[in-house]
Amino acid sequence: MVARIVPVDPFDLVVFGGTGDLSKRKLIPALFHRRAAGQMPADARIFGSARTQLDDDAFRDLAREAIATYVKPGPDERDLVDDFLKQLHYVPVDAKSDAGWAELRERLGDDPNRVRAFYLSVSPSFFQPICEQLDKHGLRTETSRLVVEKPIGHDLASATSLNRELSSVFSERNVYRIDHYLGKETVQNLMALRFANALFEPLWNARHIDHVQITVAESTGVGGRGGYYDHAGAMRDMVQNHLLQLLCLTAMEPPSQFEPDAVRDEKLKVLRALTPIDTATIGDAAVRGQYAARGDEPSYRDEAENPSSATETFVALKVEIANWRWTGTPFYLRTGKKLRSRMSEIAVRFRDVPHSIFAERAGTFAGNELVMRLQPDEAITLQMTIKDPGPGGMRLTGVPLDMSFAQSLGSTDYRMPDAYERLVMDVIRGDQTLFMRGDEVEAAWAWIDPIMAVWASEPSGPRAYDPGSSGPEDALMLLHRDGRRWREIAI
Ligand code: NDP
Ligand code: BG6
Repeated sequence: MVARIVPVDPFDLVVFGGTGDLSKRKLIPALFHRRAAGQMPADARIFGSARTQLDDDAFRDLAREAIATYVKPGPDERDLVDDFLKQLHYVPVDAKSDAGWAELRERLGDDPNRVRAFYLSVSPSFFQPICEQLDKHGLRTETSRLVVEKPIGHDLASATSLNRELSSVFSERNVYRIDHYLGKETVQNLMALRFANALFEPLWNARHIDHVQITVAESTGVGGRGGYYDHAGAMRDMVQNHLLQLLCLTAMEPPSQFEPDAVRDEKLKVLRALTPIDTATIGDAAVRGQYAARGDEPSYRDEAENPSSATETFVALKVEIANWRWTGTPFYLRTGKKLRSRMSEIAVRFRDVPHSIFAERAGTFAGNELVMRLQPDEAITLQMTIKDPGPGGMRLTGVPLDMSFAQSLGSTDYRMPDAYERLVMDVIRGDQTLFMRGDEVEAAWAWIDPIMAVWASEPSGPRAYDPGSSGPEDALMLLHRDGRRWREIAI
């Protein structure tokens, strides 16, 4: 089975921060892949832009190196690299002065038939200055799109003010707030699974689902990103956006159509229905941890170069949704760095059968679990109980009904497109379904802020945990208290 590629319309994409890490590691490789797949037209243009004084050739050299490092094209793709690089251009601009903007306007030209998009791959402190420059220099058209990266604010107040700044220049229908988790294949498959199959919907509620576990575990530490991370922490870096978005897609009502505002309205309702965590007993519902040192491996505090840092690198939460569908079914969320392995999944645990007809010697059965694995290999598994094969009488055993996407696509070397490939093409197509609306971002902060306020005032700080573990003990207790246990963090 090969996915059909529908080419997008000719476009001009300006990447502010074109010389930065995100551009080199994700955006340029993603665009190259889309060009190689025939989705990006040969007359599309990509403009890199930043303060560094480069010309087109120097930017193409930078992009060639990024492709060699992050794509590693085979010998038969070399000509394609040259063709792709011809589509790259560079205009130096300074977000905080008028330098370079007139040239950018001139080079973009006025062709009304080309889609125009501005990708702000820069620190959020440049969002407003860049929007103002785009407006002042006549670069923004009625239809031009603005793509912004996380973090969208540090709390509710800053997110609201950032959204206000963006909306003073661009209308909401032209703003694309990236959460790259929404571009992951399994995340979209979650919607297909829920809303294109009649099988699950009757069971998708508190009557039939015991609990849901959402895990995003990383095996690496913060490395060189300590400067940014020490002001963010796992709650702001991962939970406020990626994990809450996964929760929304799992819990939302079926939208009337797969259309941007219909989907985003339903996600917003979930965020607004989250029960505020009781701050008086916060430890029963929210746990934070920080990785310690192990052997020669540095601790988080070493990597962040902040010996007294109280920033959390691990969070576990028990989240409840106060609505008819979900009251009585907790959602347990956890994410952390330097854990046992890199593994992300959504596991939906169904309730046990009300009465077992089998004798005790048949053994206990594990219960049904639907697991949607996002990483490392996208797959969906349904844990079933069957009779142990053979003539040994009625003995029960658990087996997974396994659907690995690579298998079902007919090839194990199928390359799963990176989330950025899909998201950038969606921007060009003008499809906002997989992007966060401003009110969603604010609703997520409104739920997170009180937890952060308590944590900021608690002198105890995060619990230390060993690198390569499953996080701090307290996280295990979060489920033990409810008579449940976390799934293993294992590939
Ligand atoms: P980098 O620090 O690597 O790059 C920043 C870019 O901004 C550089 O190209 C820099 O170029 C440019 N820049 C700095 N000052 C100005 C200015 N005054 N005018 C114009 N351009 C300027 O950051 P990242 O690429 O890592 O991140 C970019 C954004 O994406 C951030 O908001 C980050 O939080 C977000 N993000 C990054 C991820 C990643 O994996 N890197 C993941 C998710 C989000 P120059 O110095 O030449 O001006
Ligand atoms: C980013 C976070 O948004 O997501 C990083 O800032 C994190 O800290 C990354 O490592 C994880 O993304 P992925 O796609 O590798 O799971």
